[in-house]
Amino acid sequence: MTPRRRRRSSSPWTGYYRWTAGRPPREHLLRTLDHIDWEGGRPPRGTAIELGFGAGTDTLELLRRGWRVLAVDGERAAAAFLDRRVPAEHRRRLTIVVGPMETIALPPADLIYASFSLPFCPPDGFRRVWAAIRASLKPGGHFAGQLFGDRDEWRPRQPTMTFHSLSEVRRLARGFSLELLRETTEAGMSYHGPKRWHYFDVILEKPRSARRRSGRRRRARASPSA
Ligand SMILES: C[S@@+](CC[C@H](N)C(=O)[O-])C[C@H]1O[C@@H](n2cnc3c(N)ncnc32)[C@H](O)[C@@H]1O
Repeated sequence: MTPRRRRRSSSPWTGYYRWTAGRPPREHLLRTLDHIDWEGGRPPRGTAIELGFGAGTDTLELLRRGWRVLAVDGERAAAAFLDRRVPAEHRRRLTIVVGPMETIALPPADLIYASFSLPFCPPDGFRRVWAAIRASLKPGGHFAGQLFGDRDEWRPRQPTMTFHSLSEVRRLARGFSLELLRETTEAGMSYHGPKRWHYFDVILEKPRSARRRSGRRRRARASPSA
């Protein structure tokens, strides 16, 4: 899916939502939640924000695990999709907001999750939303998501999207603990067919106090997932 195609109709993502709605929660989300649980860092009734939730499968998993979720997407079709899928017993912990993520005031959050969505912001919008993510994470809170790499196939024809080099990703992570940075370059599939992917899976943690952080860093080094 590309921004140019997106602007041609009011809900051109609908096909993508149908395509992805049957999938299980993303491995990156599960890994992040396991990591947070392993650290003992999940506050009871923690607040998660999902940016660009699409068909909503990962929001549903966050709800299932007891999080309060603010789910943001630019498409009404996404909101309609998610709304239909939310079990009644989880509704009270979910707030859905439709709008460009770069213009939405983000509340303090324990987890901000953005799965294959931030790169669809134009560079100035990305800078704004990244600053908002950094500011709204509580001390000890985590960011998890993907950033597209500068060798991604879409880069040359998508000036309205945002791509990063490895060193730029490292710069974005400055001041946070880099719990995971995994670079993938592979030939695979997108909704529109075969694609050469280049992206980074990222998990970051905002520092708490220096004393508590150093304790956890020692544990993180021993972890195969860190
Ligand atoms: C590729 S889909 C990913 C959906 C889902 N997170 C997943 O992993 O399957 C990107 C989603 O981000 C949303 N999106 C793209 N740009 C956005 C923006 N600037 N603000 C809010 N949502 C945006 C799209 O509407 C779409 O639902």
